[in-house]
Amino acid sequence: MAQTRVEDLTKDAAREELSRLAGLIDAANAAYHGKDAPEIGDAEFDSLKRRNAAIEAQFPELKRDDSPSDRVGAAPGDGFAKVAHEVRMLSLGNAFDAGDVVEFDRSIRKYLGLSADARLKFTAEPKIDGLSLSLRYEQGRLVQAATRGDGAVGENVTANARTIDDIPQNLTDAPDVIEVRGEVYMSHADFASLNSRQTAAGGKIFANPRNAAAGSLRQLDPAITQSRPLRFFAYAWGALSAPLADTQSGALRRLAEMGFVTNDQTALCDGPDAMLAQYEQIEQRRATLGYDIDGVVYKVDDLALQARLGFRSTTPRWAIAHKFFAETAWTLLDRIEIQVGRTGALSPVARLVPVTVGGVVVSNATLHNEDYIAGRDSQGGEIRGGKDIRAGDWVEVYRAGDVIPKVSDVDLSRRPKDSVPYAFPDRCPECGSEAPREPGDAIRRCIGGLICPAQAVEKLKHFVSRAAFDIEGLGAKQVEQFYRDGWIAEPADIFTLKDRFGSGMQQLKNREGWGEKSADNLFAAIEEKRTIPLNRLLFALGIRHVGESSAALIAGHYASWANLSAALGTAVPETEAWDDLNGIDGVGAVMAGSLTAAFRPGAERDAIDRLVAHLTVTDAARRGAVDSPVAGKTVVFSGTLEKMTRAEAKAKAESLGAKVAGSISARTDLLIAGPGAGSKATKAAELGVTTLDEDGWLALIAGQ
Ligand code: IVH
Repeated sequence: MAQTRVEDLTKDAAREELSRLAGLIDAANAAYHGKDAPEIGDAEFDSLKRRNAAIEAQFPELKRDDSPSDRVGAAPGDGFAKVAHEVRMLSLGNAFDAGDVVEFDRSIRKYLGLSADARLKFTAEPKIDGLSLSLRYEQGRLVQAATRGDGAVGENVTANARTIDDIPQNLTDAPDVIEVRGEVYMSHADFASLNSRQTAAGGKIFANPRNAAAGSLRQLDPAITQSRPLRFFAYAWGALSAPLADTQSGALRRLAEMGFVTNDQTALCDGPDAMLAQYEQIEQRRATLGYDIDGVVYKVDDLALQARLGFRSTTPRWAIAHKFFAETAWTLLDRIEIQVGRTGALSPVARLVPVTVGGVVVSNATLHNEDYIAGRDSQGGEIRGGKDIRAGDWVEVYRAGDVIPKVSDVDLSRRPKDSVPYAFPDRCPECGSEAPREPGDAIRRCIGGLICPAQAVEKLKHFVSRAAFDIEGLGAKQVEQFYRDGWIAEPADIFTLKDRFGSGMQQLKNREGWGEKSADNLFAAIEEKRTIPLNRLLFALGIRHVGESSAALIAGHYASWANLSAALGTAVPETEAWDDLNGIDGVGAVMAGSLTAAFRPGAERDAIDRLVAHLTVTDAARRGAVDSPVAGKTVVFSGTLEKMTRAEAKAKAESLGAKVAGSISARTDLLIAGPGAGSKATKAAELGVTTLDEDGWLALIAGQ
């Protein structure tokens, strides 16, 4: 195709051409790195990049934020092979003050049935502000390095990890299989010199050491990673063929003996007082450590107790991160805008004059709800000394870790004389429907449902998100574009896109950023997701209160789409279906209410049915170990347990794939009755339910 010479391009044509080139280069990168299937030759690829650079040189002001010149390889996430973690990489719960730390110790004692004066030790380690990495060694050799990703599936960055000096290639005296986990980070000194080198070379400037470490590790060219000064602290492990030690502190020593760098600020503490003292010590040294930390992590030292404590859905019960105080800055609040979310919630957002808070530029802050803006908490008590927030105010914003910035204070002395309190809308700004507040709810919600464009778009974005349908090439940006153009109004429309627009693909391929190949890829990616596991489908529907882990629990309970949709469509209070739904551990009346509202006959159910007509829904993977003797069984605990607490017994049973119910019914498979089981034992006997005592239960699950 004849191309206009760069010198002859008008500004508008140049802008368009940069956009077209960015799309082509991205697609070529994705094909080359992600799928091992180059679509264009090296020479053609180079010529695209050269043309892009030449146009940028001619019109520097048109250089795109996502300019291909600043990137090596594909967009993040596209270029690396995926790795499923054998043991999930989880995150940590947070403690913000001394009270939370005392409560952490108390709740562990309660869970384990330990008295207040029983010995319980914890390690206290700095929380390194980098990105976590899992290193797999087999027979002492590094075979794989993977980022955390979504915890279940990360990216294979083995070649890059091999360039990091702190990561040994070979281990001596290690278990046959060991996955060592820790944090990749960049020191302050290395960060500063990297940024000055980048400045000199006209390259990307990183906002903080963590971004620099992440950007450097996730380079598709390992030579670039090698040129970046990355380091690694080991602090945890995943799969192991043999235990490392009896304690966390012992395991850290083992890791150090094997050749890993462990953090020298780690201390062993015998309770909350010592933990808080260590927190203060580490905080005082924070500025002199030479690398960023954002808190202190406390972990139960005894690994047998860690194993008993186990995990909640995404965090361990045996560890917590005690965050340092957030960094703050003052800035001007320009205006308050309302965003409408997927469930209709009206969320106020402060648009700020951009300000740097802890190394990151902040231009938005969440304002939560109308009470928060008015200076009241949910009980009507004062927050910020009762000061309300208005457009034109000087406000103090803070960031803690990754959380969205918040407003912590308002400077009333600088408030403009003519300012007026913010009037929170009682109608949806997107569709004009009423947005009432239910009693006890701090949030106003638009009642427009599917007629509200904001809700429809947010629902679609949620539908294609990573934990839901995760359709490659169909992200939030594309969904917004397709919705705006009337191509997709509801999830079912995604699966008819090809029928409607696929022929010749003229329409799609003529769009900005879309080539014939990317249109093809999109249709293939959609095809691939026509078969979907039940839990993902349920989560993707975006029903209020139904998160990823609840969706998995509910899907596990009903097993198939036919069962689930029939049961939820008919469950109303006082029916067996309703009791059955409420009997699922983790499902309360509120979640049951929103689930059944979505499934009972009506517009929402119709949209769900239209979607499912295009899908093959695979039965839910049972939770926990499928081959455990109690998998799929419904068990009830009653009476006093002596060797474990009720909470521990319940969590263990669930981790083995059992359902734990609160009362005996014809569906109960097993009653575990301690002394004082009383009426439940009688009822079980009447119904012929197998009954075990605590030792019988422990024998049944021994070795699991
Ligand atoms: S332990 C099961 N220890 O913090 C939990 N994590 O907020 C295993 N982190 O994803 C994590 N320093 O990236 C642990 N000393 C430390 C840590 C640490 C930093 C990070 C890690 C984790 C995140 C959780």
